[in-house]
Amino acid sequence: MIHLARKKIFKTEMISDKDGIRFATPEPVAEYRAKRLQCKVIADISCGIGGQAIYFAKWCEFVYAIEIDPKKIAYAKKNAKIMGVSNIEFITGDALSSDVIAKLPELNVVFSDPARPPAEKERTINNLSPSIPEVMKAYADKTLNFAFEAPPQISPEKIPFDCEKEYMSLEGKLNRLNLYFGDLKKADVSAIALPGSNIIRKNHRNRNVHRSRKPDVYAYEPEECVTKAGLLEQLTSSFKEHDVSIFEIDEKRVLVTSNHLLECKLFKNSYKVVQVMNFDIIKINSYLKQNSFGNVIIRASIEPEKYWEARNTLEKELNGERKAHLFLKENDAIVCEVLDQ
Ligand SMILES: C[S@@+](CC[C@H](N)C(=O)[O-])C[C@H]1O[C@@H](n2cnc3c(N)ncnc32)[C@H](O)[C@@H]1O
Repeated sequence: MIHLARKKIFKTEMISDKDGIRFATPEPVAEYRAKRLQCKVIADISCGIGGQAIYFAKWCEFVYAIEIDPKKIAYAKKNAKIMGVSNIEFITGDALSSDVIAKLPELNVVFSDPARPPAEKERTINNLSPSIPEVMKAYADKTLNFAFEAPPQISPEKIPFDCEKEYMSLEGKLNRLNLYFGDLKKADVSAIALPGSNIIRKNHRNRNVHRSRKPDVYAYEPEECVTKAGLLEQLTSSFKEHDVSIFEIDEKRVLVTSNHLLECKLFKNSYKVVQVMNFDIIKINSYLKQNSFGNVIIRASIEPEKYWEARNTLEKELNGERKAHLFLKENDAIVCEVLDQ
């Protein structure tokens, strides 16, 4: 069955089966990677329906697009036509087979966004197809510059290769992990938030960062790519104001806090902390009522069935205009409000 691509990831409608579109690269990611890997001749050796290969064609002189599944490559060819690019040679076959590799000239870059199992208890680097070590061995005579996509749930210390690990957020959510080898490596670890190419690269110059037990006047929520990359300390220590600290809320949530207004593109939300009080749901509701709040977003690990029960109690008889974001740390409820940007 043919599906038109979801609007959110492609401006232009692409065609695919359900599986192809599920794994296709969102346009902002495809464009960013194509710009970063811009070169004369690139091979995308697991091209799927062409979401990434087509962007390579816009930024590179020539693209070889290889795919093992003939159905997918048929979609990729149609999508290249729809997107108006013709500088791609499509090859159907196993990217690791010597027949396929023999068809390629010397390359500037080899890229692969490999297939991975639809679900795994814990994502690992070992279940990718084609596998990273096998690709690097098979293509060693063609180039030493490789780029791979890997599951972003894997932490940097669990990547056993000498490469740059680039964690990427898209529209506020952790979305991709890119690994760059050879001359493509610019740092050990980096984080980027799209849209807008806001990047931080690991350096070893950060001073010690204070960890605060209470929030200050302002609280900032970092992009997930920064925390996953292990770069929050570095980001926090990069502000010239010295009263910037890390405020850990729970296993999943961490804020940067300060008495200063901070500007940073790698914060996805900025809040004014309006009240810190005991976690007593009735008292919080009464505080919110007295202070003209109308809605509460609970920012805590809370079972889905209990979420609405808690939220309905917190929002009982609220009729103001203000929207609270409520973080919970041990016995403290931290009432925040998004800062007008
Ligand atoms: C995640 S998808 C790629 C999606 C693609 N980047 C896009 O934007 O449309 C991975 C693809 O790798 C292909 N694949 C897996 N093993 C392969 C191999 N050994 N050779 C070539 N392609 C392979 C799968 O058929 C699948 O289409």
